[in-house]
Amino acid sequence: MKLEELREIKERAKREMELRQKGKGIKRVVVGMGTCGIGAGAREVMAAILDEISKRGIVDVEVTQTGCAGYCEHEPMVTVIDEGGRVIYGKVTPDDAREIVEKHLLGGTVLGHLVFEPS
Ligand code: FES
Repeated sequence: MKLEELREIKERAKREMELRQKGKGIKRVVVGMGTCGIGAGAREVMAAILDEISKRGIVDVEVTQTGCAGYCEHEPMVTVIDEGGRVIYGKVTPDDAREIVEKHLLGGTVLGHLVFEPS
């Protein structure tokens, strides 16, 4: 690894840390990784989200996982929390997950056709 690359990684980590410390501007993505979520493909969804975030060099997003939400048939579920509020997506595929990163996290556009509304 070149010195320049190391410097870039260090700078990115520093920016990320500053954002975290301020607690501002941080968006959160939460993937349901309960038994049914995993059974429905949540691991692949999580992998797609992490891959897309990494490929695009996004640093202001925290990705975490949660357990069962009680809506098995709507898994895999992905929740995005940002300054616009909280949006829950249901039956998310890895391709959908990449679209969520691109359009919602980066573009600020909610993907209406994927939104899960608990009844
Ligand atoms: S295991 Fe699916 S809703 Fe709990």
